[in-house]
Amino acid sequence: MQKVPPPDIAVTIGPPVMMKFCAETTRPYGIKTLASLNTIMIDGTGMCGGCRVSIGGKTKFVCVDGPEFDAHLVDWDGMLMRLGTYREIEKEAHDRCHLEMQIEKLGAQGNGARVPEKESAK
Ligand code: FES
Repeated sequence: MQKVPPPDIAVTIGPPVMMKFCAETTRPYGIKTLASLNTIMIDGTGMCGGCRVSIGGKTKFVCVDGPEFDAHLVDWDGMLMRLGTYREIEKEAHDRCHLEMQIEKLGAQGNGARVPEKESAK
């Protein structure tokens, strides 16, 4: 059987949890791995702070300092924790959006359904 040489570099792009485990897969083999963290950017201007990550113990902004970083230096757990900060609010907004779409669809079908006023609009 022919021996295949290890790759010189691996590049991971996608959901943060997938990139974390890609980095953990290549780490024991010493394969240089780049992670593209552009998926966590929000405004891309360096002003919102949403893309702040710890790389090798130093704070970096993905949109200013990256978006590619050494995947073995990314604090994946810290990044994943920050990304979950608004999970509950995002789920509520997502559910409300789908509910409103269903109500509008029913209204368009002549069922007399109306979208309820939002709390903030009262
Ligand atoms: S995306 Fe807002 S500071 Fe980087």
